[in-house]
Amino acid sequence: MKEVKRNILLNPGPATTTDTVKMAMVVPDICPRELEFGEMTISVRDDLIKIAHGEGTHTCVLLTSSGTGGVEACLTSVIPDDKKVLIINNGAYGKRMQEICNAYKIQHIDYNIEPGNPVDLGVLEDLMRANKDVLSHVAFIHHETTVGLLNPLAEICKLSHRYGLENIVDAMSSFAGMDINVKRDEVDFLISSSNKCIQGMAGISFVIAKMELLEKTKPIKRNFYFNLLENYNYLNKNKQFLFTPPVQTLYALRQAINEYLAEGGENRFKRYEDMYKIMTSNLEKLGFKFLVDKKHHAKLLTAILDPAHPNYNFEDMHDYLYERGFTIYPGKVGNIGTFRLSNIGQIYPQDIEDFFVEFKNYLNDRKIV
Ligand SMILES: Cc1ncc(COP(=O)(O)O)c(C=O)c1O
Repeated sequence: MKEVKRNILLNPGPATTTDTVKMAMVVPDICPRELEFGEMTISVRDDLIKIAHGEGTHTCVLLTSSGTGGVEACLTSVIPDDKKVLIINNGAYGKRMQEICNAYKIQHIDYNIEPGNPVDLGVLEDLMRANKDVLSHVAFIHHETTVGLLNPLAEICKLSHRYGLENIVDAMSSFAGMDINVKRDEVDFLISSSNKCIQGMAGISFVIAKMELLEKTKPIKRNFYFNLLENYNYLNKNKQFLFTPPVQTLYALRQAINEYLAEGGENRFKRYEDMYKIMTSNLEKLGFKFLVDKKHHAKLLTAILDPAHPNYNFEDMHDYLYERGFTIYPGKVGNIGTFRLSNIGQIYPQDIEDFFVEFKNYLNDRKIV
């Protein structure tokens, strides 16, 4: 087997994967319409439902796309033509939901919050109450990855139901990285992708949907490739994707799910949180400040304010660390310069310790600290 160099990706996904996930893609060529492949696909679908704790109430629609495709599929498949969606926007991905709706002329009411600031549940409730007759859905980001902010999943979903509204949750960078239970948290539609906390390869998005609500979308005809119900029905009936799937990415996702189940959700969440603690305590010791108040951190990614030092240069810092096997990520929030470090993927507390050795070397070398 070819040796694969191990890089530590501290960007917000695609995340570091295991060699076994990488190697799972090397399979005999197979026509994806073969039953063998169909059964593997169904097993992936069913395990994703289990990971979300949606057995018996929810199903899962698999799509060939990056995460944005899943969000686009969901927004365009479930909102009736004569209704509006209330979109919470406290970062770039909330804004992207608004942009998708604009592209399809889906009417939306926006709750715009300064990026990185938390939702005011009182304001949200007022908006729901005032507009409940024209709204059908509330859509928001669970972990707003541009800033590392966690929006309160269960509170927002339960609130939406109190006003008779369905909810759409982009859990791209939180699914399989923290405790989400679609029944307990009252989630109707939850979107994620194969290359973040589930630790597979990029190319598959999925929507975990409450079955009865998905079935209700039949009259909505706004899209074609991304129609959730059509994709769901076809796979269910034929054990085949409606369109050509990314075959090898699916094998990798199967392996990634096996590894998630072997590690156990609780252990994965703890591994991620342990790394977050090491990361934030080291950053604080070095004098860095965070963009988001710590009490709203998702603990999966940290947005750090650029230091106001004349020697600070993100590109130079990135290149120094990249040469040493660590990938860091830029970020700009309005006029505020930040850089981002995530702690997802098949990485360990020791990797974060090792990162800080190199990071400190760099900061000392450039006389930044
Ligand atoms: C919360 C969230 N939503 C949507 C996306 C978009 O996903 P993609 O870049 O895979 O289309 C991302 C990507 O990081 C994300 O973090």
